[in-house]
Amino acid sequence: MSILFEPIEFGKLALPNRFVHTGCYECMARDDGQVSEALVRRYSRLGKGRIGLIVTGYMFVSQDGKANPFQTGISNDSMIPGLARIADAVHEKGGRIAFQLVHAGRQTTRQICGKQPAGPSASGRDPIYLVKPRQLSDSQIVEIIEAYADAAKRAATAGADAIHISAAGGYLLNQFLSPFFNQRQDMWGGSDENRFRLLKEIILAMQSAVPKPMPIIVKMNTRDATPIEGINLEMALRYAAWLKELGIAALEIASGTLLYSNMQMWRGRVPVTEIIRSLPWWKKPLAWFSLKALERKDTGFLEGWNLKDAAAVKAHVPDMPVITVGGMRTLAQMEAAVQKGLTDCIGMCRPFLREPNLVIKFQDDRAGEAKCDSCNRCLGAAANLWPVGCYNKGIPKGKGRAADREQ
Ligand SMILES: Cc1cc2nc3c(=O)[nH]c(=O)nc-3n(C[C@H](O)[C@H](O)[C@H](O)COP(=O)(O)O)c2cc1C
Repeated sequence: MSILFEPIEFGKLALPNRFVHTGCYECMARDDGQVSEALVRRYSRLGKGRIGLIVTGYMFVSQDGKANPFQTGISNDSMIPGLARIADAVHEKGGRIAFQLVHAGRQTTRQICGKQPAGPSASGRDPIYLVKPRQLSDSQIVEIIEAYADAAKRAATAGADAIHISAAGGYLLNQFLSPFFNQRQDMWGGSDENRFRLLKEIILAMQSAVPKPMPIIVKMNTRDATPIEGINLEMALRYAAWLKELGIAALEIASGTLLYSNMQMWRGRVPVTEIIRSLPWWKKPLAWFSLKALERKDTGFLEGWNLKDAAAVKAHVPDMPVITVGGMRTLAQMEAAVQKGLTDCIGMCRPFLREPNLVIKFQDDRAGEAKCDSCNRCLGAAANLWPVGCYNKGIPKGKGRAADREQ
């Protein structure tokens, strides 16, 4: 039997194999973040796929931390019944599900989150949303910690098997961890210990909010690839050791940030025409030039581009299960990575959009690699508000408002 089909435990959660469906924003919830029928159907389909653990798309823990339209919410108790339907849909098919929690921080817009976006510092205007963030005050930071703890409690009530914290991708927790975004000189910045404090306080608050055996998983960058260096490998190793001390059940290794280095998050083709289509007319010309410039940069697909860093993390905290995500595509490479102890689990996102039954195909010897060719039209589709899926053959015309059609 392939080592990929050997069981593993994330804390008290037993997984039958080493495959993790990583966070994948669905663009399928209703306007207010409530779960739609389409979302339930999506997770029911994924539940059938024998995937070791399914991580949902990120769910916003508070309205002012909402990252995207039609994003699923976990910000108030009225959302629990819908969220329970997602967990039930996966369990009925024999799967396990982790709810991913996020606060977007400065990585959103006023239109989406209802306020001027806020981050650790008020520095800079990002090159994509063109947002100048406001700086979070101490009391606002405390409110965010409480929002995460409340969201974790809701996840447990709704029946999630684990909680997954997005501290990668350039969202709020990534912003606090990174000296590029975080220029504070108070207790929340100025040193690695201080930059780590918000994630630490959130984990501690969650641990006292949820029943004991609930595993908490963290997704973290080993490199932000921001214009001025943010998180680097050395810093990430330090953070990883502290996460281990806090009793984290597993650590997912990623890289890149949405607004400054997004092609590092999902290496492959730059979806130029699809992104341009999603923009207002006044943003198109400048966006065209920057996307074309991006195409000329080193952003192409690389097999397992985070694996080397994940292996360094694994060597540094050998007792903590590590999930590697980013360009994991061939069975041979996945097996070798786990066999050599470079990683414990294989995370994939885009491949499951194309083949939700990929794990079954691997197990039944019907495939040796994922069909996903990283065309990134899935991202182009999301930018145009189409529900998540594989759009390898092209995205439909016009704006997609699938969630609305469901209501
Ligand atoms: C359409 C799309 C949506 C994504 N949404 C999320 C998300 O909600 N949370 C998250 O942690 N990562 C998200 N990601 C990043 C993936 O989890 C993953 O890190 C990245 O795509 C690289 O892995 P892959 O090569 O297997 O696709 C998303 C990626 C794509 C393509």
